Amino acid sequence: MNIPHITAMSELVLSGKRVLIRADLNVPLSDGKVTSDTRIQASVPTIEAALSQGASVVVMSHLGRPKEGSFDASASLAPVAQRLGELLDTSVALLPELDDCKNVQTGQVALLENVRFLTGEKADDETLARRMAEICDVFVMDAFGPAHRAQASTHGVAKYAPSVCAGLLLEAELRAFQQTLAQPATPMVAIIGGAKVSTKLEVLGSLASIADRIIVGGGIANTFIAAAGYEVGSSLYEPELLDTARHIADQVDIPIPVDVMVAKTFAADAVGVVKAIDNVQSDEMILDIGPVTARAWAESLMDAQTIMWNGPVGVFEFAQFGQGTKVIGEAISESDAFSIAGGGDTLAAVEQYGLAEGISYISTGGGAFLELVEGKTLPAVAVLGERCSAID
Ligand code: 3PG
Repeated sequence: MNIPHITAMSELVLSGKRVLIRADLNVPLSDGKVTSDTRIQASVPTIEAALSQGASVVVMSHLGRPKEGSFDASASLAPVAQRLGELLDTSVALLPELDDCKNVQTGQVALLENVRFLTGEKADDETLARRMAEICDVFVMDAFGPAHRAQASTHGVAKYAPSVCAGLLLEAELRAFQQTLAQPATPMVAIIGGAKVSTKLEVLGSLASIADRIIVGGGIANTFIAAAGYEVGSSLYEPELLDTARHIADQVDIPIPVDVMVAKTFAADAVGVVKAIDNVQSDEMILDIGPVTARAWAESLMDAQTIMWNGPVGVFEFAQFGQGTKVIGEAISESDAFSIAGGGDTLAAVEQYGLAEGISYISTGGGAFLELVEGKTLPAVAVLGERCSAID
């Protein structure tokens, strides 16, 4: 776990300064409305901290993955500006051009239109990064979600801005990961769900040397079940990764369920049947853990001191296959362990089963969450560290 020393926002004087905050306001929209404002809410404390010090504040963010170089109304940050204004209880102007940002006055906050409309953003173009840096006295990096991307608004701008620091959210995210990954209180249990072992191979490999136990779910679990010699029928699994799964299971305790919930079709109205793990038929697919397994694993979580959760253990989008995720999620929420949860599906499950209150830290990161667990350096964090040590 490689987190450099970074200047904190509290170490800088922001009064009278032009402050540029990179936030992650990449939120889901439907019919032009924000459907989950979790990331917007998470960005508010940093913005308020800058405003309360008497700064002029420009916030910038990406939204979706639009084509660079042109405006696309479906990826406009207009609905986000509206919601941000409601949360801050002030009007937040949406500025179409970078040059407009120079006119924001002390005590005001404005939002720059989607940075991914700007040519050069993705390629971390130096000219664009320098133009961003020119509009501020202080650049505050507060976007954990895209911190694994070396782009102009996450990385390049931090090289050229007169002064840089981490925002309150980024600081909190890094602290939570530090607590989970660098010498976690033990036993440490990771719950890793998802469709494919191949997409979380490095995560599992890295956790094998950190966690005392890894509970795997979804298609990932099916590969481990098959690797342990059981029939997985028509379940989603990766036969080419059986040896890899066995190799990981040799390094860390990965429990195999004693019972599972199976169905003959993958559909919202599929009929779920509980089966012992050694009784899955060739025309059945495993879509959740069974009730005996869910209870046993939930109980075993009560001893944990640190819990990391990324990915549901079943197809919880279909109610009849959501019980395993619900029971495990409730156990995490009830446990006294330091718990961290992240990833789109996990957060949807947290919301669906009302688990947020009992979880110690809910991360805003998806890809960045996984890359930190993999032990990778996040470029947007590394550059803050470089700037900080250059000052030291
Ligand atoms: C996320 O949703 O994980 C972040 O906002 C990053 O988005 P991206 O994967 O489109 O860079």
